[in-house]
Amino acid sequence: PPMTAAPPFYITTPIYYVNADPHIGHAYTTIKSDIVARHHRQRGEDVFFLTGTDEHGAKIAESAERVGRTPREHADLLSARFRDLGGVLASTHDFFIRTTDPEHEAGVQRIVAAIHDAGDIYRGSYGGWYCSACEAFYGEDDLGPGRTCAIHGTPVRWVEEENWFFRLSAYRDRLLAHYDANPGWVLPAARRNEARSMIEGGLDDLSISRAQIEWGVPVPWDAGQTIYVWIDALLNYRTALAYARPGEDLTARYWPPSLQVMGKDILKFHAVIWPAMLMAAGLELPERLMIHGYVLKGGEKMSKTTGNVVDPFPFIERYGIDALRYYLTREVRFGEDGTFTAEGFEGRYSGELANELGNLLNRTVSMVGRYRDGVVPADPGGDRELAAEVDAAVVTVREAFDRLDLSRAAEDAWVLVRRFNRLVEERAPWKLAKDPERAGDLDQTLFSLAEGLRTAAILVWPIIPGSVERLLGALRQDPTRVGLDDARWGAGVPQARVAPIPPLFPRIEPDEPEEGAA
Ligand code: MSP
Repeated sequence: PPMTAAPPFYITTPIYYVNADPHIGHAYTTIKSDIVARHHRQRGEDVFFLTGTDEHGAKIAESAERVGRTPREHADLLSARFRDLGGVLASTHDFFIRTTDPEHEAGVQRIVAAIHDAGDIYRGSYGGWYCSACEAFYGEDDLGPGRTCAIHGTPVRWVEEENWFFRLSAYRDRLLAHYDANPGWVLPAARRNEARSMIEGGLDDLSISRAQIEWGVPVPWDAGQTIYVWIDALLNYRTALAYARPGEDLTARYWPPSLQVMGKDILKFHAVIWPAMLMAAGLELPERLMIHGYVLKGGEKMSKTTGNVVDPFPFIERYGIDALRYYLTREVRFGEDGTFTAEGFEGRYSGELANELGNLLNRTVSMVGRYRDGVVPADPGGDRELAAEVDAAVVTVREAFDRLDLSRAAEDAWVLVRRFNRLVEERAPWKLAKDPERAGDLDQTLFSLAEGLRTAAILVWPIIPGSVERLLGALRQDPTRVGLDDARWGAGVPQARVAPIPPLFPRIEPDEPEEGAA
């Protein structure tokens, strides 16, 4: 039979502004995307995962000026911080794009020229209130008190210039038709409805160049203007594929994106402007957009511009990256905002990760050690019901991922973790061990615990990959066998000799008191 190629799955994060250091809000977007990317690898798909940095425009130029750097120095420095963050987050992206890459800049010029050639770009004059934190124009009615940006609370300035315009208004009906023909295009549904009503309400043409901003990609037919940073940035999703892998053009293999992930603040750019640009350029639209909520601090969105941020690095250093990945997945539910608190974080760490998952591993390994000399018994085949519960969990987790409900996927997998902790209490292996006639029951229990733990762990691998790999190592299972097929009951290495390991989620002592403190 002919070999069937693995289906492609192309997933993107937004590219991060390099105006300041990354915070937990950015970490959240990358983590969510990485979890989805890893899950699709578990399905055996041909995944390509893209992330990177958005480096042009007024916002970056102004923040560079404030600290006395050139825009390029500033972009180099902060882009590296975001690249480092990706590593620390255990993100498995296949490429990290920078909009200052010459290949990207040339690609942007090519696509913008194609839209121009198609007749959808014209010259006009424009006046509006500009917020450089948003990199967007607003009308008088959209402003906050005292002519400030309604989102950032920072002053806006009046900008009036001759620009190049994209005929966005002409795409209203085609966009509506696309929304109506593809009801699941934007998830969750509330965001879809929000985007659809923006379109239905009528669209203004969009100014896509700037006469006064030098830090950007020149308009190919008008050297006096640079391309509006949002147009430049959106096109990264397309330009990257041509040069991400040296000597290869991945465009045909991966275009269009299977899933684009982003926070709700950039819905309009991705769900209204982006598809219209692609239509104008004659390119296929992404298959789905996943819009997540905000990580809040003290009831407000974390934002670099307002300074209301939590630095992810200290938490990761203290608790490990998996703790942060797990916490954010559980705490910020799909379609909702969630609040980051140190207490909530510590609660889930010691409650769910240490006491539930960590403890299950610990009990399993030590009982197999104590009662069976460290070797997991062969499956006596009696726990059909548990096998069925595991198979059912694989299906529900998969379905949750289909709906992009990651919090639900985590909860569904955790049902197994709790199930097998309960099994320890129900079967009380320490009692079985005292009765030689019940040796078969003890074998069954120890096998089922090891197998249940192995399968549950594979289901949460996309969320807490490093811990799961260590856990599989302790069970003497192959830590690279984390596919969904491996999550079948009985698919593990039989009669493995388990080995105790240091706690997966060690107890973290409260901060040491200061030297000399009472
Ligand atoms: N550069 C643009 C995106 C261009 S994509 C073509 C941008 N950058 S950003 O750095 O401001 O934001 C990047 C991502 O981080 C977005 O998905 C945004 O929603 C997310 N977050 C930033 N702060 C956030 C929270 N406090 N909570 C959750 N996500 C938030 O926008």
